Amino acid sequence: MKIGHIDLGERPIFLAPMEDVTDPAFRLMCKKFGANMVYTEFVSADALIRSVSKTEQKLNISDEERPVAIQIYGKDTETMVEAARIVEEARPDILDINFGCPVKRVAGKGAGAGMLQNIPKMLEITRAVVDAVKIPVTVKTRLGWDANNKIIVDLAEQLQDCGIAALTIHGRTRAQMYTGEADWTLIGEVKKNPRIHIPIIGNGDVTTPQRAKECFELYGVDAIMIGRASFGRPWIFKEVRHYLETGEELPPLSAEWKLSVLRQEVVDSVNLLDERRGILHVRRHLAASPLFKGIPNFRDTRIAMLRAETKEELFRIFDTISPLLS
Ligand SMILES: Cc1cc2nc3c(=O)[nH]c(=O)nc-3n(C[C@H](O)[C@H](O)[C@H](O)COP(=O)(O)O)c2cc1C
Repeated sequence: MKIGHIDLGERPIFLAPMEDVTDPAFRLMCKKFGANMVYTEFVSADALIRSVSKTEQKLNISDEERPVAIQIYGKDTETMVEAARIVEEARPDILDINFGCPVKRVAGKGAGAGMLQNIPKMLEITRAVVDAVKIPVTVKTRLGWDANNKIIVDLAEQLQDCGIAALTIHGRTRAQMYTGEADWTLIGEVKKNPRIHIPIIGNGDVTTPQRAKECFELYGVDAIMIGRASFGRPWIFKEVRHYLETGEELPPLSAEWKLSVLRQEVVDSVNLLDERRGILHVRRHLAASPLFKGIPNFRDTRIAMLRAETKEELFRIFDTISPLLS
């Protein structure tokens, strides 16, 4: 499967953009385990054009994680165009536009999924951004604003006509936020539309290798994007990749091995950011890791993990956990 000239391989699996989650170390780890493309968290176009340094740091990508997409959001065409040009200078492989974020501080102001209530503006921004940069521009959105406005089948055609190189669809409406089950049937409808020739990336509730395979087979999508199921579990890409290639589950990965992966993520996070920011980012991943589920009386240890300020502190906690892992 290709997006523009970028070859992403057979039945590719992508790491979804996630605010405060898809930081450099995590992206790299997912990449190592087989994610065919990774995305930065969304970056505010407004903040980018004002050169807010915390926002500019979000554009830091490394060659090892390629192909990588940088995602932006905003509600004003000129701002989005200017931000797109700034992003292009950071040399990502792809520029992705977020028209799917449901949270109030974004959608309530008309950006993200808020744009699903102003399709002419969404199309104007998309067209303008496509024209402004040379790299492929993609869009990520939802089925529609709410259950009465599931417009994605028509919208996909309109976005394609703006010149985007691929479309990611999260199978929920804005009104659903993250509740209920993702509905893939409309994603399948988009894919079946003979007018659609750009790759369609399906997203929502893919949590197992079996479900990933099913989504490719039932809905015919060109790629699958995994978000929450990767929290504290970057090896999910290894499990999914193995299953897609062999039709069999990967032999169980040992708890010790998984702990060593998380240790490496701590090291990478500190190396790629700095100790303070690196620890701040990685400890949230650790606290969410399914590896620690089921350890009796884990609450205090989790709190200690969330409070740790140095690599050494985290490693000491790991040493106490290690014998408890089965
Ligand atoms: C903590 C969190 C942060 C997210 N941040 C973004 C974001 O920055 N950009 C975006 O397009 N989607 C964002 N999303 C949505 C995910 O990319 C994805 O569409 C959604 O979680 C559904 O996929 P999943 O069921 O595999 O998690 C976020 C989701 C979560 C849970």
